[in-house]
Amino acid sequence: MARLLVINSSPSAEGSVSRRLTAALVARFSGKASEITYRDVGLEPPAHLDAETIGAFYTPADELTPEQLQKTRLSDQLIAELEAADVIVIGSPMHNFTIAGGLKAYFDQVARVGRTFQYSPETGPAGLLTNKKVYVLSSRGGNYSSRSPYAELNHESTYLQTVLGFIGLRDVTFIAAEDIKGGDEGVNTALALIDSIEIA
Ligand SMILES: Cc1cc2nc3c(=O)[nH]c(=O)nc-3n(C[C@H](O)[C@H](O)[C@H](O)COP(=O)(O)O)c2cc1C
Repeated sequence: MARLLVINSSPSAEGSVSRRLTAALVARFSGKASEITYRDVGLEPPAHLDAETIGAFYTPADELTPEQLQKTRLSDQLIAELEAADVIVIGSPMHNFTIAGGLKAYFDQVARVGRTFQYSPETGPAGLLTNKKVYVLSSRGGNYSSRSPYAELNHESTYLQTVLGFIGLRDVTFIAAEDIKGGDEGVNTALALIDSIEIA
């Protein structure tokens, strides 16, 4: 039985296409998930990093002051949710050609040295989150599919692939509802793809 972590990042509670997609995928796990944890970085965006938090991230755990411990609490919680999950479902509306601000703030909180990645000058960076399946369910006003002339403007999927890989999450399936301003076709195509996913 899989443990799911569902991360929604649309600022819209109602009428959100990406939330519809994540709900459709969660429904596919009915009877196959032992636990579902929701993290909503759209309605409750994580704090942007400040200098004190960054300083705390680079301070050894046994040297953290009470103030620094307070600064790392949210990051600790978010990383614990990632570590506990077998399957991570991310709802990602495209905002200004990339991910929404709340989701960027989320990755700033969880991409953390010694916790989700390590770095050595000899071998470079290595992600520490392993053996997890990720689904990215995107929604976009325009069409950025590989056949579209706008494909190069899609910095959402490319960024997500990079940052997820950086923290060790390399098994990622991307499904996007393209051109949602143009009608229902993009959403229906994405929903059909979600329906066709084989759930172990
Ligand atoms: C602030 C903002 C920026 C957006 N930027 C883009 C964009 O760059 N390209 C695009 O195709 N659609 C853009 N859109 C449209 C959204 O991607 C689209 O409405 C999507 O469905 C939003 O997902 P949601 O319904 O889950 O919130 C933008 C929407 C908002 C609110």
